Amino acid sequence: MTELTLVFDRELIRRYDRQGPRYTSYPTAVQFNDGYAVSHYYKHAHGTNEEQKPAPLSLYFHIPFCATVCFYCACNKVVTKNQAHTVRYLDCLSLEIEKQGGLFDKSRKVEQLHWGGGTPTFLNQQQMGRLMEETRRHFHLIDDGEYSIEIDPRTVDPERIVFLRDLGFNRLSLGVQDFDPTVQQAVNRIQSEEQTLGIIDAARGAGFKSVSLDLIYGLPFQSVDSFDKTLNRVIDASPDRISVFNYAHLPHLFKTQRQIDESALPLPEEKLRIFRHAIERLSDAGYVYIGMDHFAKPFDELAVAQREGKLSRNFQGYATHGDCDIVGMGVSAIGRVGNSYSQNERDLEQYQKRMENGDLAVFRGVELTWDDVLRRDVINQLICHFELQIQSYETRYGIDFWEYFAAETVQLSKMQGDGLLAVERGSLRVLPAGRLLIRNICMVFDFYLNSQDDDKVRFSKVI
Ligand SMILES: C[S@@+](CC[C@H](N)C(=O)[O-])C[C@H]1O[C@@H](n2cnc3c(N)ncnc32)[C@H](O)[C@@H]1O
Ligand code: SF4
Repeated sequence: MTELTLVFDRELIRRYDRQGPRYTSYPTAVQFNDGYAVSHYYKHAHGTNEEQKPAPLSLYFHIPFCATVCFYCACNKVVTKNQAHTVRYLDCLSLEIEKQGGLFDKSRKVEQLHWGGGTPTFLNQQQMGRLMEETRRHFHLIDDGEYSIEIDPRTVDPERIVFLRDLGFNRLSLGVQDFDPTVQQAVNRIQSEEQTLGIIDAARGAGFKSVSLDLIYGLPFQSVDSFDKTLNRVIDASPDRISVFNYAHLPHLFKTQRQIDESALPLPEEKLRIFRHAIERLSDAGYVYIGMDHFAKPFDELAVAQREGKLSRNFQGYATHGDCDIVGMGVSAIGRVGNSYSQNERDLEQYQKRMENGDLAVFRGVELTWDDVLRRDVINQLICHFELQIQSYETRYGIDFWEYFAAETVQLSKMQGDGLLAVERGSLRVLPAGRLLIRNICMVFDFYLNSQDDDKVRFSKVI
């Protein structure tokens, strides 16, 4: 395994500063196309049952509703105060659970389950109970699965946390972003420290195995000093995992971001300083820098999976259980079944109509070519483990790595010259200076990115 230290070279980062994918999938969502229909999804789902050893399952449920809007938000959401909107949606989700459940052999265990959003806790307890019950009816849930839920601390109290634990969840992630009142005001997310810390305590008391916290750097009015105060409180609260997301400001894609006063955003230099400071503070506090935006305690499953070479990426970021087929349910949900990705309708009305018409709501996707499979593995190894063992890769796929990726060697050599990686016959190793630029390194192997020039509009900055 490669050394897990990292070097923060400002000049190098500036030189490589460009937009790029986060590689939660490869090919990325830009390659999903409407030539992929429900029939393709059925074919892939059935195909996975036929495999000699069918993979376990990972279920993702998207609950899009939020009571208020956070201006920075880039998630697929529906902002409403009207609880009545959830009724039709849950009926549609129930239809989908039944249909999807029918596609996969009952013997296939659900090792991982995640409710994301939007705000899953927008639902009331009776609705959440029904959703889990129907999931149990149509899928094989297990006692020791990794079952997680995204929580907006403003929507729960300690009793609800106990309820969620009783429902079967054992991991939770909390949206925080920043504790600073000025920042909170500027992004329309007022959330007291007491609220957040109270929920973390309640989760511990209720026996949740892992508590994760989301922060964002690059928000209006943030500075190294202000963010340091947030970090102090976060470190005191001692969550098992921390995500420090780079604020993706793409107002042409996300309308509510236009409410953010751009003149209050930290300048790129300050943004970099904030992130550097976060890495230093969290590392000093004993967190392992997993990569990109993720930190975890050394014995958290994420850090263990990385040490054991079993880390992967899914649509939530770094993840364990990479061998699972992912069944995405709900509006905009993305699945990864067999060698294909598929996505449900992104518009709520469209999703509901499609489900009510009696079919699944898949509207686009992509079937992986052999070249995609080869490149996905390289990207996954590099982004998760910062190292690719060439020989075992060649044995896995029966190719000569350097021959196959001959076109990539020019860019790799340049990166080698810049000290980002070490290219040897036996391995491709990301060096400490390259860890922060891992997206750039992965981009070398992205066939599609290198054959188009419109990445500026779709992707966020790599740092
Ligand atoms: C679906 S939300 C979390 C759940 C819940 N709705 C909440 O806000 O507490 C997932 C996370 O994505 C991150 N996020 C949302 N918009 C972002 C953006 N534009 N740039 C970076 N991170 C973003 C936030 O950290 C947020 O907590
Ligand atoms: S950050 Fe969470 S609560 Fe805020 S708008 Fe986005 S999904 Fe909703």
